[in-house]
Amino acid sequence: MAANPPFDLAEIDRLLMTTKAVRRRLDLDRPVDRDVVVDCIRLASYAPNASNAQEWHWVVVDDPDQRRAVGEQYRRTTEAVVSTMLAAKEAAGDEAGARISRSILYLAAHMGEVPVLVIPCYDLEAAAGRYGRLIGADRETTGMEPGMYASIYPAVWSFLLALRSRGLGSVLTTAHQSDQPAMAEILGIPDTWDQTALLPVAHTTGGDFVPSPRAAVEESIVWNRYER
Ligand SMILES: Cc1cc2nc3c(=O)[nH]c(=O)nc-3n(C[C@H](O)[C@H](O)[C@H](O)COP(=O)(O)O)c2cc1C
Repeated sequence: MAANPPFDLAEIDRLLMTTKAVRRRLDLDRPVDRDVVVDCIRLASYAPNASNAQEWHWVVVDDPDQRRAVGEQYRRTTEAVVSTMLAAKEAAGDEAGARISRSILYLAAHMGEVPVLVIPCYDLEAAAGRYGRLIGADRETTGMEPGMYASIYPAVWSFLLALRSRGLGSVLTTAHQSDQPAMAEILGIPDTWDQTALLPVAHTTGGDFVPSPRAAVEESIVWNRYER
């Protein structure tokens, strides 16, 4: 380790290890300041992205009726699928997996009550200009390509870290993607913007967070060359 690290490593490591999926501990009653959301999006914009083109739009929903409509649409796309997953996990005796499914169902039931909902969108049309070809529905290719997700998910993760650093919580969700047109209709989102995630944003309840279980990292590292 460097003799004089430029950051307080204990604090940075704690941030990285405890920025986790928050669902049941989102405070549904405490409002979230618009300023803090804007600050976190500003910090997120420093994330790496292809050609520094910043082909993103952050749709932020804090109007109660709009939140309710978005939450209801999220519930519609989540509940049946995750209920089936939950039954399969319970049947297989996978209690850890079942706990996550129950937590997902809890959030699906309450998404519309979360104070702020953020939908980071990737602008396919802007990317098409840069890539020199058309991308998306009815065009040469059918939608998001890996490089495009790679140009927005770093910013999404930075946004989640920035929230956590300010005492707020969230979870990266994507279940709504199975019906993007329905969500686009509610929010007026053009069909050339891919809705890459739906992020509920709230203050958190309870005490501090502890790291989630993860496999030993040595199991996933390959040094120099993979040997079968
Ligand atoms: C690509 C992606 C899609 C996800 N989709 C959902 C989702 O639709 N709903 C949800 O509640 N959580 C979703 N999650 C959150 C994961 O369940 C969570 O990150 C994982 O269980 C690890 O949680 P932990 O960091 O708290 O251990 C998603 C995460 C990722 C990276």
